[in-house]
Amino acid sequence: MEHIAMPSLRIATIFLTAAAVQCIAAQDVDYSQYVNPFIGSEGAIEGYAYGGGDVFVGSALPFGMVKLGLDSFEIPVNQSALNGGWTPKGKVTGISMMHQSGTGGGPKYGYPAQMPLASLEGVNLLDNLTYWQDRDGDDVASVGYFKTHFESGVTVELAATRHAGLHHYTYPSSEKHVLVDFSHYLPHPTRAWDSQFYAGGEIEIQPNSSTYSGYTSIGGGWNLGAPVTVYVCGEFDSIPDSARAFSGKNTFPVSRHFRSFDNATTPEPTFRGTSARSGPINDRVGAIFSWNGTDDNQEIKSRVGISLMSVAQACAYKNQEIPDWNSEVVAQAARDEWNRDVFSKIRVDTSEKANKTRLALLYSSLYFMHLIPSERINENPLWESEEPCWDDFYTMWDLFRNQVSLWHLIQPSYYESMIRSLIDIWRNEGFLPDGRSGNYNGLVQGGSNVDNVLADAYVKGLRGAINWTDGYAAVKKNAEVQPYFDQNPVDERGSLKDGRSALSDWISLGYVSTDRKSRAVSKTVEYALNDFAISQIAAGESQGDVDKYLKRSGGWQLSWDPTATSRNFTGFVMPRYANGSFHTDYDITDCGDCNWSDESYEGTSFEYSFVIPHDMERVMELMGGPQHFESRLDYVFQPNTSGVDLGVNGLGITTINNVANEPDFQTPYLYNYLNKQWKSVERSRQLATDFYFNTSQGIPGNSDAGALNCWLVWQMLGLYPVVTTPVYLIESPWFEDINITVNHNHTLRIRAEGLDDGDGKQSYYVQSVNINGQAWDKNWFNHEDAGGIMTEGGEILFHLGTEQKVWESGEVPPSPGHQVIDVGGY
Ligand SMILES: *[C@@H]1O[C@H](CO)[C@@H](O)[C@H](O)[C@H]1NC(C)=O
Ligand SMILES: *[C@@H]1O[C@H](CO)[C@@H](O)[C@H](O)[C@H]1NC(C)=O
Ligand SMILES: *[C@@H]1O[C@H](CO)[C@@H](O)[C@H](O)[C@H]1NC(C)=O
Ligand SMILES: *[C@@H]1O[C@H](CO)[C@@H](O)[C@H](O)[C@H]1NC(C)=O
Ligand SMILES: *[C@@H]1O[C@H](CO)[C@@H](O)[C@H](O)[C@H]1NC(C)=O
Ligand SMILES: *[C@@H]1O[C@H](CO)[C@@H](O)[C@H](O)[C@H]1NC(C)=O
Ligand SMILES: *[C@@H]1O[C@H](CO)[C@@H](O)[C@H](O)[C@H]1NC(C)=O
Ligand SMILES: *[C@@H]1O[C@H](CO)[C@@H](O)[C@H](O)[C@H]1NC(C)=O
Ligand SMILES: *[C@@H]1O[C@H](CO)[C@@H](O)[C@H](O)[C@H]1NC(C)=O
Ligand SMILES: *[C@@H]1O[C@H](CO)[C@@H](O)[C@H](O)[C@H]1NC(C)=O
Ligand SMILES: *[C@@H]1O[C@H](CO)[C@@H](O)[C@H](O)[C@H]1NC(C)=O
Ligand SMILES: *[C@@H]1O[C@H](CO)[C@@H](O)[C@H](O)[C@H]1NC(C)=O
Repeated sequence: MEHIAMPSLRIATIFLTAAAVQCIAAQDVDYSQYVNPFIGSEGAIEGYAYGGGDVFVGSALPFGMVKLGLDSFEIPVNQSALNGGWTPKGKVTGISMMHQSGTGGGPKYGYPAQMPLASLEGVNLLDNLTYWQDRDGDDVASVGYFKTHFESGVTVELAATRHAGLHHYTYPSSEKHVLVDFSHYLPHPTRAWDSQFYAGGEIEIQPNSSTYSGYTSIGGGWNLGAPVTVYVCGEFDSIPDSARAFSGKNTFPVSRHFRSFDNATTPEPTFRGTSARSGPINDRVGAIFSWNGTDDNQEIKSRVGISLMSVAQACAYKNQEIPDWNSEVVAQAARDEWNRDVFSKIRVDTSEKANKTRLALLYSSLYFMHLIPSERINENPLWESEEPCWDDFYTMWDLFRNQVSLWHLIQPSYYESMIRSLIDIWRNEGFLPDGRSGNYNGLVQGGSNVDNVLADAYVKGLRGAINWTDGYAAVKKNAEVQPYFDQNPVDERGSLKDGRSALSDWISLGYVSTDRKSRAVSKTVEYALNDFAISQIAAGESQGDVDKYLKRSGGWQLSWDPTATSRNFTGFVMPRYANGSFHTDYDITDCGDCNWSDESYEGTSFEYSFVIPHDMERVMELMGGPQHFESRLDYVFQPNTSGVDLGVNGLGITTINNVANEPDFQTPYLYNYLNKQWKSVERSRQLATDFYFNTSQGIPGNSDAGALNCWLVWQMLGLYPVVTTPVYLIESPWFEDINITVNHNHTLRIRAEGLDDGDGKQSYYVQSVNINGQAWDKNWFNHEDAGGIMTEGGEILFHLGTEQKVWESGEVPPSPGHQVIDVGGY
């Protein structure tokens, strides 16, 4: 095995945390070299972001508060998506510190920003059209480092730490300018209702002109959040010849709350000396720093810290985290941290003979599933607490399916910290978040899926410093208290901010009715799993509640219409009215826009009828038994069966099963419930190889905070977790030998003897499995089985071959929420 030598430069120790010290040998491998940070940066239309991953491309640490990267504007806007900031061909309007990764809807963040300008000729600092930049050549990105070249001749290099960023600009001549724009944010060019808006700021230039500080406040975006105030402290490595603060009329077309001028003319900045503030009607503020070109120096470096607490804290981050001005040093520290805390948690052979495409897929996937949420320890501006603070859970609807289960194994410290933070949000704001960004809850897409997250952690024994008495009270609130109506314009029938907007139906009817509530089909399915999840925590925290929530978890059966028929299959979850009758002419294979006000959200009845992980036994019965279940499952993977036209947004998906979206994540694995595991392996591998690539178009849709990437990681490990239960389904690994660091410092080794699947070879079907030396006859195991396989570690040994073999003879995976509710004789 070849070990890639560590470069001699090692400043990693500065950032070393106690939880991170482990496995010296593994740290010596630079796994970061395999990461392709562009995977998912482009959609189906070459050169455009629309329909792609919406990923962040830039420099960041694992879960870092700062994600330093370009903000760009790509036209035509109907082929673009600005959510991650970077677009393939967009014009650059700024370089900003905060970003999301993988999210859809109205963009969040894209602030605070700087922009290097080679000249001020023709530039109106309040009009981005007068200075935005095309890029020439290809951008360069690697873990912790980003580089681009503007048509103006300016080269930009970026490197981030946890709360600060280092910009390194190289200009075409010694004339140099940097615009600091506090009113910059990622806009939403196609609609106003969930666009961000600027709510004011203040900037002050320090006496020697090389340092500036202040704050900006930006609100709105996807969850219509309250303004986030970010304090900024920036410094240049040389004293500018001139530094002027300015302000100007706020004419943003969507600043509905705080417009100060009509939109017919573009205002000019008013220069204000060394400081500028927004005043009562939220004028835009910024500053322009200029080096007038009388020296030979063509470079400017700038280090910028941010904080949600104070300018002092922002300055402290800047000084402590970037003590010198070397972007290679900062980038190397980032690589070291990623290798140590993320990539080395899953170690595979990286020698000459290793398949480099697979290394890229594995380590890039791990990278994208560690960008958000954002760790905000000591950065909670809302309340004082001993608990950690996290933000950018965007969203639980995406994360609960399998991503939290992988964090549980490989990031137990971070994950425990996240859960403590979630509970603290309930403690102080009244509701756990289903989505949260900019310190503001929302949007809730269906159920209160944070319940599933807490249950998944609980059943697998995560305790540490989590207060589970409060954890239980928090999920119970979701199950019992109807949230107030938040007036979100896109849904008149319930809150999108917190909790379960259709709880009134769920409690009184046992299902969500389609005449009184939006998204009845998907909410019914999700509420059922949420209540099952709550029963799982109740089993340890409040025994007396277990039966109640278990019973409620069967509510999806009340929405099961045993006579509904589609494509020759009978029996589906269907929209049902409050009076008990079903919406019978509902299109089972087409949910229309599948949007906030529709009857099912981002998935058809056909798809959601499979999404009952806690009671697959009953699903199978209601679908007519194992044979019918199997042929229906086969059917959803047949090409050209989809009734929904996903267009270029679907990257060629024509099956009913939608590999690009979370509701169907587990469906390809359901053959395990028939003891025909080989078919799960076949289907899921096919999907993975058809839709995931080491290219900028390499994931089938928004990466969703890394949820899609994580789906691929589980696929490559040969396992799949059944969330809210301690069960893992056994599939088929993509590597002969994998060492995973689980539970802080234990090693789970997964070996695959007989694997041979390159170039169309198909020696990947399971012939037999051993777990910790025991012959294993079930196609699943529990978290603590075989002497604690996922807690103490050990070895899962696969024997793979070309035969499509029914090797399992033991019980099928459990249906721990099993119950039979009469659905009209079925
Ligand atoms: C975007 O709009 C242009 C016309 O302005 C059209 O040619 C193009 O097909 C549209 N793209 C998409 C993805 O709808
Ligand atoms: C400028 O002043 C700040 C404090 O106001 C100081 O930290 C910094 O070192 C000074 N820079 C130079 C180049 O003198
Ligand atoms: C450039 O700035 C320096 C220092 O402020 C000043 O002395 C010089 O006159 C300026 N030169 C020009 C050409 O503006
Ligand atoms: C450019 O600035 C205008 C306000 O002048 C703003 O409405 C728009 O969103 C900005 N565009 C980008 C891409 O930032
Ligand atoms: C000004 O805003 C209104 C309302 O958004 C819009 O209809 C109008 O076209 C805008 N005018 C200009 C010149 O942009
Ligand atoms: C996994 O760990 C075992 C035991 O330390 C070691 O022999 C093997 O080489 C490791 N495999 C990989 C791929 O790191
Ligand atoms: C959990 O938090 C509550 C207050 O929210 C407190 O009363 C209780 O003592 C805590 N439990 C533990 C075990 O710390
Ligand atoms: C349904 O079954 C009928 C009769 O067997 C057959 O003709 C038809 O093609 C089937 N439809 C589908 C969608 O499979
Ligand atoms: C039930 O309510 C729906 C929606 O209001 C209505 O269309 C249907 O006719 C009602 N059914 C009965 C049996 O009253
Ligand atoms: C969903 O609904 C919102 C609000 O009406 C709208 O802005 C958005 O374009 C819709 N999205 C889709 C995919 O239809
Ligand atoms: C393993 O990690 C746990 C949790 O951090 C710690 O308590 C324990 O001391 C560690 N054990 C070893 C051998 O490092
Ligand atoms: C390497 O892995 C990729 C992705 O799984 C696969 O398409 C390719 O066939 C593999 N190449 C070899 C030589 O095994």
